[in-house]
Amino acid sequence: MPTNRQRVKHHPSALPAKFISFEGIDGCGKSTLMEQLSHWLATAGIPCIMTREPGGTPIGEKIRELLLATSSAGMSTRAEMLLYSASRAQLTDEVIVPAMKKGTWVLTDRFVDATFAYQGYGRGHDLQRLKTIQEWTTRDLWPDKTILLDCSIEVALDRIAGRNGGKFDRIEQENNAFHLKVRNGYMALAAAEPERFLVLDASRPLEEVIEDFYNRFWLAVVGR
Ligand code: TMP
Repeated sequence: MPTNRQRVKHHPSALPAKFISFEGIDGCGKSTLMEQLSHWLATAGIPCIMTREPGGTPIGEKIRELLLATSSAGMSTRAEMLLYSASRAQLTDEVIVPAMKKGTWVLTDRFVDATFAYQGYGRGHDLQRLKTIQEWTTRDLWPDKTILLDCSIEVALDRIAGRNGGKFDRIEQENNAFHLKVRNGYMALAAAEPERFLVLDASRPLEEVIEDFYNRFWLAVVGR
C-alpha cells in the first residue's frame, strides 16, 4: 500500500464536501475504518469532521444514553425508532449541514441505513413508512457514499465481547436471530443501491480491509 506521502500528491484539497456514512452490525469495525479515512483526508489537506449516531450533539448524546442503557429494556420499538430519528434530526441541523456548507467533509458512524436495517429489517417496521419518516428527519439529506462492513454474527460478537469489559448494551444484547436479520437487511439495502454502497468483507484481518478500502474508495472514488 502506498505511504501517506505518496497519497497526498494525488489529491488537491479543493474537493467539494462529501457526506460519508459507515454502517454494519455491531462489532464489524466501522469506527476504525472511519478513523482511517479521516487520517487520509487530513493528510491530503481536506477538511473533515467525524461524528456518530445516535449522538454527536449534546442532545443526541443524552438520547444515546437512553437508547443503549440496559435499564431501557421495556422501550417500545416505535419509541426506539423515533428516538434514533430525534438524535439524527439534531445532528443533521446542528452538525452535518453547517459543516458541509463550509466545505467540510462529514464522516458519520451510522446514519439512516441503520434505522432501515435495525428498526426495519430487525424490528419489522414497514420500510416505506420508515423512509418517509427519514426524509422528514434529515430534510432529505442522504449520504454521498455508504461504506458497509459485512462480517458474520460470530466474528462481530467475538469482537464486542473483547471490548467494554465484555459488557453488551441494550441492542447488542439482542439474540443472534435479530443480528442476522440486521446483517441480511444491510445486504439487501446495499443490493438495492449499488451506486451508493461500497460493501467490504470485514471478517478479514484489519490490514486487508484497510487496503481494500484504500483501493476501492480512496483511489476509485476520491483519488485521481
Ligand atoms: P454504535 O454502537 O455503533 O454506536 O450504535 C449504537 C447502536 O444503536 C447499535 O446497536 C445500532 C443501533 N442503532 C439502531 O438500532 N438504529 C439506528 O438508527 C442507529 C443509528 C443505531
